[in-house]
Amino acid sequence: MNEQEAKKRIDLLKKKIKQLNYDYFVLDKSTVNESVRDSLKKELVELEKSYPKLITTDSPTQRVGSALSGKFKKIKHTTTKKSLSDVFSAEEIVSWHERIKKLVSDKIEFICEPKLDGLNITIHYNKGVFTKAITRGNGIEGEDVTHSAKTIEAIPLKLNEPIDLEISGEIFLPKKQFERINKEQKSKDQKLYANVRNLAAGAIRQLDPKIASERGLDVNFYEIGANSMDPGTQKDVLESFRKLGLPVEPNFHKTASIDDVVNFCKKWEKKRDSLPYEIDGIVIKVNNLSQQKKMGKTAKTPRYAVAYKFPAEQVTSKVLDIILQVGRTGAVTPVAVMKPTLVAGSVVSRATLHNEDEINKKDIRIGDTVILQKAGDVIPEVVESMKDLRTGKEKRFRFPNNCPVCDKPIERKEGFAAYRCENQSCPAKQKEEFSHFVSKKGFNIDGLGEKVVVQLLDSGLIQDFADVFLLKKIDLLNLELFKDKRADNMIISLKEASHIPIERFIFSLGIRLLGETSSYDFANYILNHKKKSEKHLEKIEKESDELTLFEEPENKSDQQKEDFSILDLIETVQSIKFEELENIDGVGEKVAAYIFEWFNDPANTELLEKFYKVGITLDTSNVGRTGKLTGRSFVITGTLKDMTRDQAKDFIKHNGGKVLSSVSKDLNYLVVGENAGSKLKKAEELGVKVINEEDLYKITA
Ligand code: IVH
Repeated sequence: MNEQEAKKRIDLLKKKIKQLNYDYFVLDKSTVNESVRDSLKKELVELEKSYPKLITTDSPTQRVGSALSGKFKKIKHTTTKKSLSDVFSAEEIVSWHERIKKLVSDKIEFICEPKLDGLNITIHYNKGVFTKAITRGNGIEGEDVTHSAKTIEAIPLKLNEPIDLEISGEIFLPKKQFERINKEQKSKDQKLYANVRNLAAGAIRQLDPKIASERGLDVNFYEIGANSMDPGTQKDVLESFRKLGLPVEPNFHKTASIDDVVNFCKKWEKKRDSLPYEIDGIVIKVNNLSQQKKMGKTAKTPRYAVAYKFPAEQVTSKVLDIILQVGRTGAVTPVAVMKPTLVAGSVVSRATLHNEDEINKKDIRIGDTVILQKAGDVIPEVVESMKDLRTGKEKRFRFPNNCPVCDKPIERKEGFAAYRCENQSCPAKQKEEFSHFVSKKGFNIDGLGEKVVVQLLDSGLIQDFADVFLLKKIDLLNLELFKDKRADNMIISLKEASHIPIERFIFSLGIRLLGETSSYDFANYILNHKKKSEKHLEKIEKESDELTLFEEPENKSDQQKEDFSILDLIETVQSIKFEELENIDGVGEKVAAYIFEWFNDPANTELLEKFYKVGITLDTSNVGRTGKLTGRSFVITGTLKDMTRDQAKDFIKHNGGKVLSSVSKDLNYLVVGENAGSKLKKAEELGVKVINEEDLYKITA
């Protein structure tokens, strides 16, 4: 075969394989056996091997890219990716309709789409050719997962028309694949995967694209971004997707009646099990795109769509045992070990029983058959025990006197629900503290999971959090879990993690009751009252620099001169009086007491200084923001129309405003929603300006 003949054959093969993929993924029908498709692909591979010049980027053989060496590149989305507001009942669907009806003059048509439970993905096509795939990320920027998305056969590498297009959809794992993968895990005696969505998301975020290609991922598209097609309705969008070769969920339904929308939701609630993939609700959208545009968006969600979430799925399972877990703060929590059972897309083998009173109230015994429930992402819980099914062999659970981990006495103080282990050096507490420290909301160190933390602690390589940043490749190679590549990746992760948003740094310290939001509020306050540290800086500089991180300490000092450093943080927090602390919005008396105690403990100051010395720098770009609302204070009351109160708070903070919790004469604005009560009365008495949600958007516009 000469080159010209080879080219002809290659083109034919590519066309045929593309058509077979289309039949299979878009039309859901197999016209030939899968092995036929495979042998055509094999022939194409051989031909391309002999004529490498003829390989094009859209060839089906080019799906398997090469493994990446570092972490994923971050890419900014062209438009911010919003999420949907959830509704849970027919009444809420109807009241959403009532709200949006007022925003347009013409009659509204709806389109209902089964809501797949997977991973949101945005794909760009350039003149019809696949160019990049980006995860949703935080909505503003996502991760570049082009290399693994390319291996998903359901995503066409070339569209049927040479157009520019940006689309979003859901990558998901069909139930059949989930079962197959778990069967394989079982035969290899390896841990079973618990959750369809995480397995899909995990596959996409692998550096080695082979993993994504082996998992059998699928995709459906439902949203159009930048495009040159100008469709009139969402139905047009879905239909043109199909024509272009892009798979869509086939059960979508168009209707002009809100009752019909409700019926559609109820119908799929019953029929969801018949689908070959997990759905967790129905997305209800306004069909007409110009109506959608008129209705607009709020800070986080569009007004033109809502997600109806199916109610918590309930199943029965058996309590095999009740064990105790010791948390970061020493709380001893009873946990039911369950017979592994599939609930709402994940296998549940443990469920928290909260505390002693809860076990007694529900009368849960070892051996009981119980009702388990899980709604969406919510932690599984035991609803009730089925007492009629008892045989008499069930055993009541009694709390022991001693900690199950360190064997020191545990105690339940009066007025508290939990037993607590007060032993400061209880290994269970230490392990939990570290896990919290490296967790996503804290330092977010990739590859530093619980197992590694345990090994690092056991081997004595780390004693405190800051030690993590002194780890060298050679230290890691001595551990059982690390080979060359993994150790390299960990060092990269540590380096990246060493510049951390201040609010996450504060959260990572594990100060009791200081959650994600209060850490943000506290960080904001700190930045607005910042003090430059002279005293501490002198002290530290005098000390020898026996602790050096990575190779370029010069970078560290440059960065820290500009930024707000950890030493400034110590100085600032120590200058804040207790009374000021408890008045910070979002903090309150109890948290203030724990913050005060933490920052005034010399051992903790030492730890903070060590963080500074090992090169941790603070990123302050998310807090202390200035914007249209800078210098103005707000209190929110009543039920808002489009945002939850937390969303409204974030919106105000994001624009530089201050959110307070009570009305006084110094307050600038009271933002009112429905059913506002005493705060509204007080504001009117004091002459404080009262505004609604729309006014708030207007001030920031
Ligand atoms: S539309 C502006 N349609 O559900 C938001 N989302 O919170 C556009 N999802 O992040 C989303 N099926 O990952 C839309 N037919 C569908 C969907 C869908 C699943 C996911 C998506 C989104 C989340 C909504």
